[in-house]
Amino acid sequence: MCSDAAPQASANGPGIGACRCLRSDTVTGMSNTTISVGLLGCGNVGGALVTLVAEQNEEVAARTGLDLRIARIAVHSTAKDRGLDIDPSVFTTDAAAVVDDPSIDVVVETIGGIEPARELVLTALRSGKPVITANKELLANHGAELYEAAADAGVDLLFEAAVAGAIPLMRPLRESLIGEPIGRVMGIVNGTTNYILSQMSEHGVSYEAALAEAQSLGYAERDPTADVEGYDAGAKAAIIATIAFGGRVVAGDVYHEGISSITASDINFASRLGFVVKLLAITERVGEQNGQPVVAVRVHPAMIPASHPLASVRDSFNAVFVEGGAAGELMLYGRGAGGRPTASAVFGDLIDAATNKVRGHAGSIGTLVKPVIQPIDDLVSAYYLNLEVTDEPGVLATVASIFGDHKVSIRSMEQEGMGDQARLIFITHQARERDVRATLHELGSLDSVRRIGSMMRVVGES
Ligand code: HSE
Repeated sequence: MCSDAAPQASANGPGIGACRCLRSDTVTGMSNTTISVGLLGCGNVGGALVTLVAEQNEEVAARTGLDLRIARIAVHSTAKDRGLDIDPSVFTTDAAAVVDDPSIDVVVETIGGIEPARELVLTALRSGKPVITANKELLANHGAELYEAAADAGVDLLFEAAVAGAIPLMRPLRESLIGEPIGRVMGIVNGTTNYILSQMSEHGVSYEAALAEAQSLGYAERDPTADVEGYDAGAKAAIIATIAFGGRVVAGDVYHEGISSITASDINFASRLGFVVKLLAITERVGEQNGQPVVAVRVHPAMIPASHPLASVRDSFNAVFVEGGAAGELMLYGRGAGGRPTASAVFGDLIDAATNKVRGHAGSIGTLVKPVIQPIDDLVSAYYLNLEVTDEPGVLATVASIFGDHKVSIRSMEQEGMGDQARLIFITHQARERDVRATLHELGSLDSVRRIGSMMRVVGES
């Protein structure tokens, strides 16, 4: 970092960490401060950041007094044409050298994955450099180690882009809502699955057809497992739980179910009953045990009332619904993926970290405790259950008595179809998950139950 008052020479040649401080603020007569940025990775997000910095730098400089320079970029291959308007000598394949370069003020990590990202981020933090990362996998698995390294070094570790792309969520939870006793955060944090479910719901297409469409549009990967089985949303849920409740929650703590077994008829039944099916990441504070907070954190398809604000989040959009105390309910909505939206969040963090560095400040996520994670069996929820049954006298009575034996109270029931096509659709009152599972287990052993169709939790009713 340098200013007109204290210019530094770069040993790296022109365009690489060079410190040519600009004077652009003609109103106050103050000079801008050059911040040299080391970018690790130049894929969708990294490349979009380079473009955004070029597009916006003049305005950012005018508003903040910061002249942000992408001074070095670490990539796998320097030969690849990335279509970026930047001096080719900025690129290197040596990521460690970018982090170690004394002329680099701030490090931005967009490599993804655990290693070498973890080692590079730790090295940067320990050497006193603020880090901005978009890496949900890294934070969901090694967040505590990184937050601690940042706090020890007194530098920023900012990660707005790691959860829900462009949507400001981490900063509102860390700052604006820090005094709020947050009860629950529920989010649609995976755009691919929201796109698939929206297609199924609005066009009546099968899961397979909607997935193929998502793949053709580039939302879903060729191997869609991480999105459709809830791993991506699970990593984001762990980060949200950590920040919302100040507890060390890791990806392995998150219970997750994906959407691959949701059928068009589940969605149709949901709609007829006044619900919409969404893949939700849910984290809530559910109590205290021996002085430790008990936190539930899970990802699963859920039926939410059509009137709930999250129900209107369509296509590949994300949204996060926060249930606070004094603040009441809030919803944050926007683009959760894509190069430019995600780079926008990185850019905001970059400006924030650079500003803090100039002022000698750093943010902190505060002290993290280890919460007790509520087992999924202890969840209390209403449930939607879909059973394929034989259509004979006494079947409903037998089925209903098994619900009663397990203390699961039925709120509504309807039969759909007749004969070989007969199904019973139940919505239960609030029940404990272990009792619902025991009910389904016993129902599955009845000759009159041909197949247990689906089980979905009903969420968000007031
Ligand atoms: N694949 C994710 C989504 C974006 O579909 O939302 C990256 O987390």
